[in-house]
Amino acid sequence: MKIEIADKAGFCFGVKRAIDLAIGLAENASEKFGEVLTLGELIHNERAVKALEEKGVFAVNSVEEAAGKPLVIRSHGVPKATLKAARESSPEVIDATCPFVKEIHKIAESVPESGSLIVLGDKNHPEVIGIVGNAKCTAFTAMTFDEVCEVLDTDPPKPVAMVVQTTFDSSVFSEIFQKVKEKYGCVEIHNTICTATVKRQESARELAKRAALMIVVGGRSSSNTRKLAEICERHTKTVFVTSAEEIPQRILEDLQADNSKAVIGITAGASTPADTIKEVHDKMNEEITKINENEEDFASLLEQDQSFNRLYNGKRVKATVVSVSKKEVVVEVGAKQTGYIVREELTNDPSADIEDIVKVGDVIDAVVIKVDDSVGTAALSKKRVDAQLGLEKLEEVKDSGEAVEGKVTQVVKGGVIVIFENTRVFIPASHTGIPRGGKLEELQGKTVKFEIIEVSNERGGRVVGSIRQASRKVRDAERAKFWESIEVGQKFEGEVRSIENYGVFVDIGAVDGLVHTADLTWNRVGHPKDIVKVGDKITVIVKSFDPEKKRVSLSAKDPEDNPWTKFVAEYAKDDVIKATIVSITEFGAFAQIIPGVDGLIHISQISTERVADINTVLKVGDTVDVKIIDIDNEKSRVSLSIRALSEDAPAEDATD
Ligand code: F3S
Repeated sequence: MKIEIADKAGFCFGVKRAIDLAIGLAENASEKFGEVLTLGELIHNERAVKALEEKGVFAVNSVEEAAGKPLVIRSHGVPKATLKAARESSPEVIDATCPFVKEIHKIAESVPESGSLIVLGDKNHPEVIGIVGNAKCTAFTAMTFDEVCEVLDTDPPKPVAMVVQTTFDSSVFSEIFQKVKEKYGCVEIHNTICTATVKRQESARELAKRAALMIVVGGRSSSNTRKLAEICERHTKTVFVTSAEEIPQRILEDLQADNSKAVIGITAGASTPADTIKEVHDKMNEEITKINENEEDFASLLEQDQSFNRLYNGKRVKATVVSVSKKEVVVEVGAKQTGYIVREELTNDPSADIEDIVKVGDVIDAVVIKVDDSVGTAALSKKRVDAQLGLEKLEEVKDSGEAVEGKVTQVVKGGVIVIFENTRVFIPASHTGIPRGGKLEELQGKTVKFEIIEVSNERGGRVVGSIRQASRKVRDAERAKFWESIEVGQKFEGEVRSIENYGVFVDIGAVDGLVHTADLTWNRVGHPKDIVKVGDKITVIVKSFDPEKKRVSLSAKDPEDNPWTKFVAEYAKDDVIKATIVSITEFGAFAQIIPGVDGLIHISQISTERVADINTVLKVGDTVDVKIIDIDNEKSRVSLSIRALSEDAPAEDATD
């Protein structure tokens, strides 16, 4: 024979959370106020209530009774007006309404005043009263499909929403849901039944089917415990006890007489503390030991029964996420205690969204930081495990010299903090890559690559990193790759970095290359600044490069627009054309034939007469008739002549 405790037996998450919050408040506030009050009992269990009283937590029935004292709102929640009144009369109010119930309040509140809300549930149950009291619209309660019809037939739907009490019978709800959907398609139905209740009932049913005896542990006034007993009775012999002392002797005797079935099951209501379940477990274990005349010791039984795996501060556990809210994550740790991880213990990143870090079903590594056996909760930390793992990993990273990525979460004195796998890494200002006097705030929220330059285990671990070092390595690697792959004719989209008299420097990624003034455009250029400005994006082509001297010569001229190609296609030697004087030198004048192609009229080719000073004959802007006397394709040069035109002219008729 062996004992099995049903999964999910005992405190649900919402109740545990409320108890924990109340105890936390009592630890902080009872010295000043003497006691902490709860609006109604947090839990329907005498022993648990007593344990709470010993910790300074007492129940009252109205907000007025709590005036002047810290007050906790229990997991059932309260009407909006009650919460407001409590906040006005109590110095501190902790709203421990179960997050699942809060979700229903939000739905209730979202129905516009012109609409209606139907709450499926017991109208006298505090949770239902709280839901109704959070609606702006008219709210009705119903327990059956007929009652729902009464509401919908007499109050024709405007917008109508329907929610369900968290502990409502799920099979009854399914039936009502189907019928309402068929008959009143416009009703917005929200299934707000709490899965904790459903799962507890399912696991009790499953165990009862296999067990010779089911022991249901819980308070007599607890409706969910009674419901569990009803479920178990349908499948096997069941006893309902509030404590181990109540286990009837005759049941034990019956077991002695017939031990053909091997399993004795235990389940417990949502308000049954873990130690009460444990006592029942212990008592049954004693009896079984007697029956079997077996010396199997209790410790080994406990060992086999994962339900009672002991948690203690500092224990590393694998935890399964069962719910995620904005403030905390609830986890299962294979023990009777429900684990929870508050936001601050989940991550070191204050801007992170919990829902982005974990999701329901994830199995995470965590460490126990506080166990409270009296209420069956265990506070855990994920970030402390992560930090330790992160520290170990960062030590390896430091040794390997590789760069890792993290998010800058904080600007602190002398640098910034980057979070890497929940480990804080300090980057001194001089290693951020931000120039001296620059704003470190520019890095806030950014994901950066950095190297680890120091890891020490002092004061819980100190890690120092360098973004600058990692960037330099990345740059060096990019440069090496650049010099390996560069080719003449390669095209780059670059950015003008600086402008000099002789040209411009263009950033083409790994290096800056030089575009000489003459290579900026096919046209004549006075000064580079007439063509580009710093920051301009331009397309450049590699003309030549020197990997030794790390120099790249670039051209911004597009070969397809080369005016020389156009010139040779359209003009030939001996053509007589018109050209415009664009500059005058000592040895001749340059005349533009087409944009980008100028020809030289040598001083000797200007006139049949000797020309001493060109400026007396030609000036910039003059349009002159010239003859093309030479085309040098290799050097892309054209020679022009005015004189040749006079020589070509027929001799003047002397008789004219
Ligand atoms: Fe909350 Fe579900 Fe318990 S709604 S209070 S976790 S039964």
